[in-house]
Amino acid sequence: MLGRISGETSTAVDWVRVRESYPLQHPLLNLNNASVSPPPLVVQQAVIEAYRFVGKNPDVNMWTGLDAKLPDIKRQLATLANCSAEEIALNRNASEGLSVAIFGIPLSAGERVLVSPWDYPSALAGWQQRQTREGIVVDTVAFDLLASDEEIVAAYSSAFRPATRVLHLTHMIHWTGRVLPVARLCALARERGIITIVDAAQSFAQMPISFCELGCDFFVTSLHKWLGAPIGNGMLIINRQRICETWPLLAPFDAAPDTVDKFDHWNLGTYNSALQAGIEPAIRFHQAIGVANIHARLSALTRYWTARAADINGLRIHTPLDADTLGAVSLFSIDGIDAARLERTLRQSFSVHVKYRRVGQLEGLRVSPHIYMNEADLDAFVDTLHAAAKDAD
Ligand SMILES: Cc1ncc(COP(=O)(O)O)c(C=O)c1O
Repeated sequence: MLGRISGETSTAVDWVRVRESYPLQHPLLNLNNASVSPPPLVVQQAVIEAYRFVGKNPDVNMWTGLDAKLPDIKRQLATLANCSAEEIALNRNASEGLSVAIFGIPLSAGERVLVSPWDYPSALAGWQQRQTREGIVVDTVAFDLLASDEEIVAAYSSAFRPATRVLHLTHMIHWTGRVLPVARLCALARERGIITIVDAAQSFAQMPISFCELGCDFFVTSLHKWLGAPIGNGMLIINRQRICETWPLLAPFDAAPDTVDKFDHWNLGTYNSALQAGIEPAIRFHQAIGVANIHARLSALTRYWTARAADINGLRIHTPLDADTLGAVSLFSIDGIDAARLERTLRQSFSVHVKYRRVGQLEGLRVSPHIYMNEADLDAFVDTLHAAAKDAD
């Protein structure tokens, strides 16, 4: 038993067992799980077995054998996300789900979309493409990532225009781990009849989330970050009222135009069904620990390493550490130290992998531990940080 299946946090999780359930991270200490996480061993094994099964009779074993389980997988994901299975499409990743929403929502020239500079770069590029090709207008709302929720809600609120049709939001900002008050923002948009997209690539499975409570129209996530599904799995949830009017990215082979199936990745043509065979064991693994326990553990790990590093001269943390929503992701910089160079030094001299991030004036190193990591890993990381900071003096 890894822990209790429970919505409540508890101390019952055996974190040593959890650690043993993951592949050893080697040679680097992997502190960039926000980009992509290693799937637990049981998930890896399920994919290997499914791939062998596929090899025996690909046509039948993929499309009749493995794909027959997808409706049930959707039902299990619907329970995790608190939505209906009829609103879920499975795809390759969050980028694909974002593209379905961005390119599929019908908009006319002059209609407006509201984004922020902190949204995912390829999502912003998608909207720019529509602006160039179709004459829609992309407005950008400015706010500081350390501003209060009230200030952020006020910034979005004053950026709406009469022609705003879409609000594009990121739940946990991937640059710093800041979580936005998306339920409040979606409610504001709904009052104005504005369609909402929530990019939950970083928040889904990292913290408790309910599609119904967020109240958005499109909810996009990867399943290979915090859920631990095989790399190359994503999920798009579309409010059933939006399904009919939204264009699919790829013309479907034979799906009815008003069901969510038109967004499923079988419309791609041939793909590797064995990858999806790992979703179910990933869900079971995740539920055995419990999402509230996972979130509590991830925020505790972030608070642990940031407290241990606090005495480093010039250390700045660009993530609100006192927020209830704090999770695994945070960004730091050290005054007077070139962050890109520090990233290289940490990797080459100390075998520590963190991620250099720069957007606008914000620059630093993103740190994202996962549940298979422990305090000793973070002690090792902070020790290297002290050493690297001292060398740079
Ligand atoms: C906020 C956010 N959106 C979208 C993505 C894209 O995810 P994927 O690489 O799974 O397509 C990421 C990836 O890091 C992200 O952090």
